Amino acid sequence: MYYDDSVMAKADLLVSIVRAGASGDRAKLRSTVEALVADERARSHHGVAERLERALQSVAVTPPPLTTPPPGGGGGRDAILEVTPQQRLEELILPLPVRRSGEQLVEEHVRADVLRAHGMEPRHRVLLSGPPGNGKTSFAEGIAEALALPLFMVRYDSLVGSNLGETNTRLRALCEYVRTRPNVLFFDEFDAVGKERGDTHETGEIKRVVSFLLMQLDQMPSYVVVIAATNHAELLDRAVWRRFQMRLGFPSPDRQMITAYLERTMDRWPERPSATPADIADKLGPVSYAEALDFCQNVRRREILGLGETGIDAALEIELDLWSSRVNPGQQDAERSRKAVAPSRRRTQRRAPSRATVSGNEGDPALPL
Ligand SMILES: Nc1ncnc2c1ncn2[C@@H]1O[C@H](COP(=O)(O)OP(=O)(O)O)[C@@H](O)[C@H]1O
Ligand SMILES: [Mg+2]
Repeated sequence: MYYDDSVMAKADLLVSIVRAGASGDRAKLRSTVEALVADERARSHHGVAERLERALQSVAVTPPPLTTPPPGGGGGRDAILEVTPQQRLEELILPLPVRRSGEQLVEEHVRADVLRAHGMEPRHRVLLSGPPGNGKTSFAEGIAEALALPLFMVRYDSLVGSNLGETNTRLRALCEYVRTRPNVLFFDEFDAVGKERGDTHETGEIKRVVSFLLMQLDQMPSYVVVIAATNHAELLDRAVWRRFQMRLGFPSPDRQMITAYLERTMDRWPERPSATPADIADKLGPVSYAEALDFCQNVRRREILGLGETGIDAALEIELDLWSSRVNPGQQDAERSRKAVAPSRRRTQRRAPSRATVSGNEGDPALPL
Protein backbone atom coordinates (compact mmCIF):
# COMPACT_ATOMS: atom_id res chain seq x y z
CA MET A 1 0.00 0.00 0.00
CA TYR A 2 2.70 2.43 1.05
CA TYR A 3 4.78 1.25 -1.87
CA ASP A 4 1.96 1.92 -4.31
CA ASP A 5 1.34 5.37 -2.91
CA SER A 6 4.95 6.38 -3.08
CA VAL A 7 5.32 5.06 -6.60
CA MET A 8 2.24 7.02 -7.59
CA ALA A 9 3.62 10.12 -5.92
CA LYS A 10 6.91 9.75 -7.76
CA ALA A 11 5.07 9.19 -11.04
CA ASP A 12 3.12 12.41 -10.43
CA LEU A 13 6.33 14.30 -9.86
CA LEU A 14 7.88 12.91 -13.03
CA VAL A 15 4.80 13.81 -15.04
CA SER A 16 4.92 17.34 -13.60
CA ILE A 17 8.57 17.63 -14.59
CA VAL A 18 7.84 16.57 -18.14
CA ARG A 19 4.94 19.01 -18.35
CA ALA A 20 6.99 21.85 -16.92
CA GLY A 21 9.86 21.09 -19.29
CA ALA A 22 7.58 20.82 -22.28
CA SER A 23 5.85 24.10 -21.54
CA GLY A 24 9.11 25.88 -20.69
CA ASP A 25 7.88 26.67 -17.17
CA ARG A 26 11.25 26.94 -15.44
CA ALA A 27 9.94 27.90 -12.02
CA LYS A 28 7.68 24.87 -12.02
CA LEU A 29 10.44 22.67 -13.33
CA ARG A 30 12.73 23.86 -10.57
CA SER A 31 10.24 23.43 -7.74
CA THR A 32 9.20 19.97 -8.93
CA VAL A 33 12.77 18.76 -9.31
CA GLU A 34 13.49 20.16 -5.86
CA ALA A 35 10.58 18.18 -4.48
CA LEU A 36 12.00 15.09 -6.14
CA VAL A 37 15.45 15.80 -4.69
CA ALA A 38 13.94 16.14 -1.23
CA ASP A 39 12.04 12.90 -1.73
CA GLU A 40 15.21 11.06 -2.78
CA ARG A 41 17.09 12.48 0.17
CA ALA A 42 14.37 11.36 2.51
CA ARG A 43 14.92 7.85 1.16
CA SER A 44 18.68 8.23 1.62
CA HIS A 45 19.27 8.08 -2.13
CA HIS A 46 21.93 10.75 -1.89
CA GLY A 47 23.65 9.84 -5.14
CA VAL A 48 20.44 10.29 -7.14
CA ALA A 49 19.64 13.49 -5.24
CA GLU A 50 23.01 14.97 -6.06
CA ARG A 51 22.79 14.09 -9.73
CA LEU A 52 19.37 15.68 -9.92
CA GLU A 53 20.70 18.77 -8.20
CA ARG A 54 23.57 19.05 -10.61
CA ALA A 55 21.19 18.70 -13.51
CA LEU A 56 19.05 21.40 -11.97
CA GLN A 57 21.95 23.83 -12.00
CA SER A 58 21.76 23.88 -15.76
CA VAL A 59 18.21 25.23 -15.59
CA ALA A 60 18.49 28.96 -16.00
CA VAL A 61 16.32 31.05 -13.75
CA THR A 62 15.42 34.69 -13.60
CA PRO A 63 16.62 36.34 -11.26
CA PRO A 64 19.16 35.48 -9.47
CA PRO A 65 20.82 32.10 -10.04
CA LEU A 66 19.77 30.46 -6.79
CA THR A 67 21.58 27.18 -7.15
CA THR A 68 25.00 28.75 -7.61
CA PRO A 69 26.93 28.02 -4.42
CA PRO A 70 27.51 31.20 -2.45
CA PRO A 71 31.05 32.61 -2.48
CA GLY A 72 33.10 31.23 0.35
CA GLY A 73 31.17 27.96 0.48
CA GLY A 74 27.75 27.21 1.84
CA GLY A 75 27.79 29.00 5.19
CA GLY A 76 23.99 29.11 5.19
CA ARG A 77 23.87 26.86 8.18
CA ASP A 78 25.47 29.41 10.47
CA ALA A 79 22.41 31.59 10.61
CA ILE A 80 20.17 28.70 11.55
CA LEU A 81 19.47 27.03 14.83
CA GLU A 82 18.33 23.51 14.08
CA VAL A 83 15.82 22.17 16.56
CA THR A 84 14.26 18.76 16.88
CA PRO A 85 10.64 19.59 17.63
CA GLN A 86 9.07 18.26 20.82
CA GLN A 87 5.93 20.34 21.17
CA ARG A 88 2.77 18.64 20.00
CA LEU A 89 0.10 20.67 18.29
CA GLU A 90 -2.68 18.87 20.16
CA GLU A 91 -1.27 19.99 23.49
CA LEU A 92 -1.76 23.66 22.69
CA ILE A 93 -4.92 25.52 23.53
CA LEU A 94 -5.73 27.37 20.35
CA PRO A 95 -8.60 29.42 18.96
CA LEU A 96 -10.67 27.10 16.77
CA PRO A 97 -9.76 28.72 13.44
CA VAL A 98 -6.06 28.48 14.30
CA ARG A 99 -6.40 24.83 15.22
CA ARG A 100 -8.31 24.10 12.00
CA SER A 101 -5.76 25.96 9.90
CA GLY A 102 -2.94 24.06 11.58
CA GLU A 103 -4.63 20.77 10.80
CA GLN A 104 -5.21 21.81 7.20
CA LEU A 105 -1.58 22.82 6.81
CA VAL A 106 -0.42 19.46 8.11
CA GLU A 107 -2.82 17.60 5.86
CA GLU A 108 -1.78 19.56 2.78
CA HIS A 109 1.82 18.54 3.37
CA VAL A 110 1.19 14.96 4.36
CA ARG A 111 -0.93 14.53 1.23
CA ALA A 112 1.03 16.88 -1.02
CA ASP A 113 1.25 14.21 -3.70
CA VAL A 114 -2.53 14.24 -4.11
CA LEU A 115 -2.49 18.03 -4.56
CA ARG A 116 0.43 17.85 -6.98
CA ALA A 117 -1.34 15.27 -9.06
CA HIS A 118 -3.90 18.02 -9.66
CA GLY A 119 -1.31 20.66 -10.36
CA MET A 120 -1.55 22.28 -6.93
CA GLU A 121 0.99 22.85 -4.17
CA PRO A 122 0.40 22.79 -0.41
CA ARG A 123 0.37 26.20 1.25
CA HIS A 124 3.69 26.92 2.87
CA ARG A 125 3.89 30.57 3.88
CA VAL A 126 2.31 31.27 7.24
CA LEU A 127 2.23 34.43 9.35
CA LEU A 128 1.49 34.21 13.07
CA SER A 129 0.69 37.30 15.07
CA GLY A 130 -0.19 38.11 18.63
CA PRO A 131 1.24 39.22 21.97
CA PRO A 132 4.19 37.23 23.39
CA GLY A 133 3.73 33.99 25.26
CA ASN A 134 0.61 32.68 23.55
CA GLY A 135 2.00 29.93 21.42
CA LYS A 136 3.48 31.27 18.19
CA THR A 137 6.83 29.54 18.58
CA SER A 138 5.09 26.48 19.99
CA PHE A 139 2.75 26.37 17.00
CA ALA A 140 5.66 26.43 14.55
CA GLU A 141 7.30 23.66 16.54
CA GLY A 142 4.04 21.71 16.62
CA ILE A 143 3.72 21.90 12.83
CA ALA A 144 7.29 20.63 12.46
CA GLU A 145 6.57 17.85 14.94
CA ALA A 146 3.40 16.79 13.14
CA LEU A 147 5.26 16.68 9.83
CA ALA A 148 8.33 15.01 11.37
CA LEU A 149 10.50 17.82 9.98
CA PRO A 150 13.35 19.69 11.62
CA LEU A 151 12.60 23.20 12.83
CA PHE A 152 15.08 25.73 11.44
CA MET A 153 15.09 28.89 13.52
CA VAL A 154 16.64 31.88 11.80
CA ARG A 155 19.26 33.66 13.90
CA TYR A 156 19.30 37.29 12.92
CA ASP A 157 22.50 37.93 14.87
CA SER A 158 24.38 35.63 12.51
CA LEU A 159 22.48 36.82 9.48
CA VAL A 160 23.14 40.51 9.71
CA GLY A 161 26.67 41.29 8.61
CA SER A 162 28.78 44.41 9.06
CA ASN A 163 27.56 45.71 5.74
CA LEU A 164 24.60 45.10 3.54
CA GLY A 165 26.55 43.22 0.92
CA GLU A 166 27.59 40.71 3.53
CA THR A 167 24.06 40.39 4.84
CA ASN A 168 22.84 39.71 1.34
CA THR A 169 25.47 37.04 0.81
CA ARG A 170 24.55 35.33 4.06
CA LEU A 171 20.88 35.53 3.25
CA ARG A 172 21.55 33.91 -0.07
CA ALA A 173 23.57 31.16 1.62
CA LEU A 174 20.81 30.62 4.15
CA CYS A 175 18.16 30.25 1.47
CA GLU A 176 20.43 27.95 -0.42
CA TYR A 177 20.88 25.76 2.61
CA VAL A 178 17.26 25.58 3.70
CA ARG A 179 16.05 24.38 0.35
CA THR A 180 18.26 21.31 0.51
CA ARG A 181 15.65 19.40 2.45
CA PRO A 182 12.10 19.66 3.77
CA ASN A 183 11.90 21.69 6.97
CA VAL A 184 9.93 24.28 8.86
CA LEU A 185 11.77 27.59 8.54
CA PHE A 186 10.88 29.89 11.41
CA PHE A 187 11.40 33.64 11.43
CA ASP A 188 10.66 34.98 14.91
CA GLU A 189 9.99 38.70 15.38
CA PHE A 190 9.55 39.09 11.70
CA ASP A 191 8.53 42.72 12.16
CA ALA A 192 12.21 43.42 12.88
CA VAL A 193 12.90 42.52 9.27
CA GLY A 194 9.86 44.13 7.70
CA LYS A 195 10.26 47.33 9.68
CA GLU A 196 13.66 48.14 8.20
CA ARG A 197 11.88 49.11 5.04
CA GLY A 198 10.86 52.35 6.66
CA ASP A 199 14.36 53.33 7.80
CA THR A 200 15.70 56.47 6.24
CA HIS A 201 19.34 55.52 6.63
CA GLU A 202 20.57 53.75 3.54
CA THR A 203 16.97 53.08 2.71
CA GLY A 204 17.67 52.00 -0.82
CA GLU A 205 20.09 49.26 0.12
CA ILE A 206 18.10 47.98 3.08
CA LYS A 207 15.04 47.86 0.90
CA ARG A 208 16.97 45.75 -1.51
CA VAL A 209 17.87 43.26 1.24
CA VAL A 210 14.27 43.06 2.41
CA SER A 211 12.93 42.74 -1.11
CA PHE A 212 15.50 40.07 -1.74
CA LEU A 213 14.37 38.17 1.35
CA LEU A 214 10.73 38.48 0.35
CA MET A 215 11.51 37.31 -3.12
CA GLN A 216 13.42 34.35 -1.72
CA LEU A 217 10.44 33.48 0.43
CA ASP A 218 8.18 33.61 -2.62
CA GLN A 219 10.47 31.26 -4.42
CA MET A 220 10.93 28.76 -1.62
CA PRO A 221 9.83 25.33 -2.73
CA SER A 222 6.64 24.19 -1.05
CA TYR A 223 8.41 21.54 1.02
CA VAL A 224 9.95 24.40 3.00
CA VAL A 225 7.19 25.56 5.32
CA VAL A 226 8.01 29.19 6.07
CA ILE A 227 6.47 30.40 9.33
CA ALA A 228 7.00 33.99 10.42
CA ALA A 229 5.90 35.29 13.80
CA THR A 230 5.33 38.84 14.92
CA ASN A 231 4.06 40.57 18.03
CA HIS A 232 3.13 43.55 15.92
CA ALA A 233 1.36 42.57 12.73
CA GLU A 234 0.38 46.22 12.31
CA LEU A 235 4.03 47.14 11.76
CA LEU A 236 4.30 44.97 8.71
CA ASP A 237 3.31 46.64 5.53
CA ARG A 238 0.68 45.13 3.30
CA ALA A 239 3.23 44.08 0.72
CA VAL A 240 4.78 41.87 3.37
CA TRP A 241 1.73 40.23 4.88
CA ARG A 242 0.07 39.71 1.53
CA ARG A 243 2.78 37.18 0.73
CA PHE A 244 1.60 34.85 3.44
CA GLN A 245 -1.04 32.37 2.41
CA MET A 246 -2.20 31.80 5.98
CA ARG A 247 -2.39 34.56 8.57
CA LEU A 248 -3.24 33.35 12.03
CA GLY A 249 -3.95 35.35 15.16
CA PHE A 250 -2.78 34.24 18.61
CA PRO A 251 -4.77 36.53 20.89
CA SER A 252 -4.28 36.83 24.64
CA PRO A 253 -6.27 34.07 26.31
CA ASP A 254 -9.45 34.98 28.18
CA ARG A 255 -10.28 33.79 31.69
CA GLN A 256 -11.94 30.66 30.39
CA MET A 257 -8.94 29.63 28.32
CA ILE A 258 -6.58 30.21 31.23
CA THR A 259 -8.90 28.17 33.44
CA ALA A 260 -8.73 25.33 30.93
CA TYR A 261 -4.96 25.65 30.82
CA LEU A 262 -4.65 25.55 34.62
CA GLU A 263 -7.05 22.64 34.77
CA ARG A 264 -4.93 20.69 32.36
CA THR A 265 -1.65 21.59 34.04
CA MET A 266 -2.81 20.86 37.57
CA ASP A 267 -4.24 17.56 36.44
CA ARG A 268 -0.69 16.34 36.02
CA TRP A 269 0.30 17.33 39.55
CA PRO A 270 0.58 14.64 42.22
CA GLU A 271 -1.82 16.62 44.38
CA ARG A 272 -4.42 19.19 43.38
CA PRO A 273 -4.87 22.38 45.39
CA SER A 274 -8.27 22.93 46.96
CA ALA A 275 -8.74 26.20 45.05
CA THR A 276 -10.40 25.60 41.69
CA PRO A 277 -8.65 26.53 38.42
CA ALA A 278 -11.31 29.21 37.91
CA ASP A 279 -10.47 30.78 41.30
CA ILE A 280 -6.78 30.79 40.47
CA ALA A 281 -7.44 32.22 37.00
CA ASP A 282 -9.39 35.06 38.65
CA LYS A 283 -6.52 35.81 40.95
CA LEU A 284 -3.96 35.78 38.18
CA GLY A 285 -6.00 38.19 36.08
CA PRO A 286 -5.14 38.65 32.40
CA VAL A 287 -2.02 36.62 31.67
CA SER A 288 -0.40 34.91 28.75
CA TYR A 289 -0.06 31.12 28.70
CA ALA A 290 3.66 31.52 29.21
CA GLU A 291 3.02 33.52 32.41
CA ALA A 292 0.46 31.01 33.64
CA LEU A 293 3.00 28.28 33.00
CA ASP A 294 5.67 30.14 34.98
CA PHE A 295 3.26 30.57 37.83
CA CYS A 296 2.35 26.88 37.90
CA GLN A 297 5.96 25.82 37.81
CA ASN A 298 6.78 28.10 40.71
CA VAL A 299 4.00 26.58 42.78
CA ARG A 300 5.42 23.13 42.10
CA ARG A 301 8.93 24.32 43.00
CA ARG A 302 7.69 25.59 46.38
CA GLU A 303 5.93 22.32 47.01
CA ILE A 304 8.89 20.17 46.00
CA LEU A 305 11.43 22.18 47.99
CA GLY A 306 9.09 22.14 50.96
CA LEU A 307 9.87 18.44 51.27
CA GLY A 308 6.46 17.59 52.55
CA GLU A 309 6.35 20.51 55.00
CA THR A 310 4.76 22.84 52.46
CA GLY A 311 1.59 21.34 51.06
CA ILE A 312 0.23 22.27 47.67
CA ASP A 313 -2.25 24.75 49.19
CA ALA A 314 0.48 26.56 51.12
CA ALA A 315 2.71 26.61 48.04
CA LEU A 316 -0.13 28.12 46.01
CA GLU A 317 -0.77 30.72 48.69
CA ILE A 318 2.90 31.78 48.74
CA GLU A 319 3.03 32.16 44.98
CA LEU A 320 -0.27 34.05 44.77
CA ASP A 321 1.09 36.47 47.34
CA LEU A 322 4.24 37.03 45.34
CA TRP A 323 2.24 37.23 42.15
CA SER A 324 0.14 40.08 43.39
CA SER A 325 3.24 42.12 44.24
CA ARG A 326 5.41 41.29 41.27
CA VAL A 327 6.81 44.05 39.15
CA ASN A 328 5.77 44.29 35.56
CA PRO A 329 7.30 47.29 33.77
CA GLY A 330 4.74 47.53 30.98
CA GLN A 331 1.87 47.32 33.41
CA GLN A 332 3.42 49.83 35.77
CA ASP A 333 3.50 52.40 33.00
CA ALA A 334 -0.08 51.68 32.16
CA GLU A 335 -0.97 51.84 35.84
CA ARG A 336 0.72 55.18 36.21
CA SER A 337 -1.11 56.73 33.30
CA ARG A 338 -4.40 55.25 34.46
CA LYS A 339 -3.94 56.66 37.93
CA ALA A 340 -3.23 60.02 36.39
CA VAL A 341 -6.47 59.90 34.43
CA ALA A 342 -8.85 58.21 36.84
CA PRO A 343 -7.52 57.67 40.35
CA SER A 344 -10.67 55.95 41.60
CA ARG A 345 -10.89 53.32 38.87
CA ARG A 346 -8.78 50.79 40.69
CA ARG A 347 -11.52 50.17 43.18
CA THR A 348 -13.83 48.98 40.48
CA GLN A 349 -11.46 46.35 39.16
CA ARG A 350 -12.36 42.70 39.20
CA ARG A 351 -11.61 40.57 42.22
CA ALA A 352 -7.94 40.92 43.01
CA PRO A 353 -6.07 40.16 46.21
CA SER A 354 -6.59 43.12 48.51
CA ARG A 355 -2.98 42.95 49.67
CA ALA A 356 -1.81 43.95 46.20
CA THR A 357 0.85 46.62 46.31
CA VAL A 358 2.07 46.82 42.75
CA SER A 359 -0.61 44.88 41.01
CA GLY A 360 0.56 43.10 37.97
CA ASN A 361 -2.67 42.03 36.52
CA GLU A 362 -5.82 43.50 37.77
CA GLY A 363 -6.11 45.86 34.87
CA ASP A 364 -7.84 46.05 31.58
CA PRO A 365 -7.43 42.81 29.62
CA ALA A 366 -6.53 44.84 26.56
CA LEU A 367 -3.32 46.04 28.16
CA PRO A 368 -0.10 44.64 26.76
CA LEU A 369 1.07 41.62 28.69
N1 LIG B 1 -1.75 28.34 23.29
C1 LIG B 1 -1.01 27.70 24.21
N2 LIG B 1 -1.43 26.54 24.75
C2 LIG B 1 -0.69 25.92 25.68
N3 LIG B 1 0.50 26.35 26.11
C3 LIG B 1 0.98 27.49 25.61
C4 LIG B 1 0.26 28.22 24.63
N4 LIG B 1 0.97 29.32 24.32
C5 LIG B 1 2.10 29.28 25.05
N5 LIG B 1 2.12 28.19 25.83
C6 LIG B 1 3.21 27.85 26.76
O1 LIG B 1 4.05 28.99 26.91
C7 LIG B 1 5.36 28.73 26.42
C8 LIG B 1 5.86 29.93 25.63
O2 LIG B 1 5.07 30.14 24.50
P1 LIG B 1 5.65 30.52 23.06
O3 LIG B 1 5.16 29.51 22.07
O4 LIG B 1 7.12 30.72 23.13
O5 LIG B 1 4.92 31.90 22.81
P2 LIG B 1 5.24 33.04 21.73
O6 LIG B 1 6.15 32.46 20.70
O7 LIG B 1 3.89 33.43 21.20
O8 LIG B 1 5.88 34.15 22.49
C9 LIG B 1 5.23 27.49 25.57
O9 LIG B 1 6.40 26.70 25.64
C10 LIG B 1 4.06 26.75 26.17
O10 LIG B 1 4.50 25.91 27.22
MG1 LIG C 1 8.12 33.07 20.48
